[in-house]
This record gives sequence, C-alpha cells and structure tokens, in this order.
Amino acid sequence: MKTLLIVYHSVTGGTAQMAQAASRGATETRTRLERAEGITPEDMLAADGYIFATPENLAAISGMMKDFFDRCYYEVLDRIQGRPYAIMVCAGSDGTNAVRQIERIATGWRLKAVAAPVIVCTHAQTPEAILAPKVIGPDDLRKCEELGAAMAAGMEMGIY
Ligand SMILES: Cc1cc2nc3c(=O)[nH]c(=O)nc-3n(C[C@H](O)[C@H](O)[C@H](O)COP(=O)(O)O)c2cc1C
Repeated sequence: MKTLLIVYHSVTGGTAQMAQAASRGATETRTRLERAEGITPEDMLAADGYIFATPENLAAISGMMKDFFDRCYYEVLDRIQGRPYAIMVCAGSDGTNAVRQIERIATGWRLKAVAAPVIVCTHAQTPEAILAPKVIGPDDLRKCEELGAAMAAGMEMGIY
C-alpha cells in the first residue's frame, strides 16, 4: 500500500477542515494527516505522494508551512523527484500567491502535479471575521474529499 502524506497548517481551522476532508477521501492509501510543525525530512522520504495545505497569509504561504519547507527542502532534494503532489489553500479572498509559492518549491523538488489546486475562500473581510474560527461548507469540503480520493486512487493504481 502507498502512503499519502497530507501536510497542513491552520490557525482558525479552515485549512484543518480541508485537510481532514482530503484525508477522509483518501481511503485507498495509507494516509498520514500531519501538522507542518511536526514533519521531518524522514517523514517526507517515507511517503509516496503529498498534499500540501496552507492558509494564505499576507499573500504568501503561512509561516509554519514556510518553516516546514525550509527545514525539509535540501534534506530531501533529489530524493523525492517524480512523486505526485497536490495543493489546497484556505484564503480570505485570494489564495493564488500561496499556490504559486508551493508550485515553485515543488518544481525545485521535481514533484509531479497531479490535480488542479483547490482554493477555498472564506470571504472573511473584517479583522474580527478573519480572526474568528472558520467553518468550511459542505460543497468545498466535498472538493477536498474528492481531491484526496483521486490522489489515493491514482497512487494505488500506479497512474502517478
Ligand atoms: C495575518 C493574516 C493575513 C492574511 N492574508 C491573506 C491574504 O493575503 N489573502 C487572502 O486571501 N486571505 C488572507 N488572510 C485570510 C486567511 O487566509 C483566512 O482567514 C483563512 O481562513 C486562514 O486559514 P485557517 O482558517 O486555516 O487558519 C489572512 C489572514 C491573516 C490572519
């Protein structure tokens, strides 16, 4: 059985719910759902494919996701090329720059993008709304679940 590693960070819960949904969908692989803080290069090497899930903060991936990539980048460079990956971003109203950043990092790692990025916008505008706990709606959660299911099925069938 292949191992799908879902690496995520979340402050107000939106990205966490998206990552959990992807994990629920990924029934065909062994799936590890882990916060970015705890991920080591060994965890990256031990997985066969990845979903990276981050909030967009200040038009960038969150600091904790950046820390995870910084800690692991050179340790696994040239050791994970060709493996499949996908991106999920929870954003207030945009999310595209966080996607771009992860795509650049994944290009450096020579990972293979196997699905369109999923961006979920919470439409929080005021400071109070942005700092409040998030509830991701069922339609958006379904997209995340489907992404997890497609990744897992593709990995298990050897398509990726
Ligand atoms: C400091 C900060 C900066 C943010 N910057 C952006 C941004 O640049 N673009 C955007 O679309 N949303 C931005 N947001 C909104 C978050 O992406 C949104 O609240 C999201 O739900 C956070 O994910 P989480 O619930 O998993 O923590 C920002 C939020 C915070 C707290």
